[in-house]
Amino acid sequence: MTIHIVSFLVSGRGSNFSIVAEKILKGDINAKIGVVISDRKDTLALSKARENNLECAFLDPKKFKTRKEHEQEITKLLKKAGTTLVVTAGYMRLLSPFIIGKYPNKIINIHPALLPAFPGIHAQKQALDYGVKISGCTAHFVDEGTDTGPIILQKEVTLLPDETEITLSKKILKQEHIILPGAVKLFCENKIRVKGRKVIIK
Ligand code: GRF
Repeated sequence: MTIHIVSFLVSGRGSNFSIVAEKILKGDINAKIGVVISDRKDTLALSKARENNLECAFLDPKKFKTRKEHEQEITKLLKKAGTTLVVTAGYMRLLSPFIIGKYPNKIINIHPALLPAFPGIHAQKQALDYGVKISGCTAHFVDEGTDTGPIILQKEVTLLPDETEITLSKKILKQEHIILPGAVKLFCENKIRVKGRKVIIK
């Protein structure tokens, strides 16, 4: 069986990245880590990657003339690492068709809402402001839209009457830390098939 090589795109705290990386390093997920790429300097995610002696890079978007050039560099590093799965774990930039085309249904993102509700940024605040009683998180493949790709796993949380953006984000994050590694594991065990919009799990 082929061993998948999982690379990460990160922008910040990196708690989702850390959980998945830990599971790979411990052998709970049968895969290898390729490269960890951040679009921001000195992120917690990068320091966690360095602590674990992982290959990592900071690619400053400001140093590139266009988004395509930035993504060309990202792609070069992903390719060099032999990446077969990309995980965008708190990566705050939209990916263009250029990079998505190179990894069709091979980029997994974690989103802090039950898609298709509340795509884009501040998903937890959007859910609160809307007044929903249930929200949650979604692990999905990345396609060319904003958080529109095929859904792999979802997990719901119940909103309490005194819920705030902070408490809701915490509650959702706990579930993100379950379904993101879950989705990566399924992918790495080749248990996922995508048929149109539908993700079939063996
Ligand atoms: C998570 O809530 C994720 O769903 C969202 O950004 C946050 C990143 O957190 N896209 P972390 O960097 O993984 O800790």
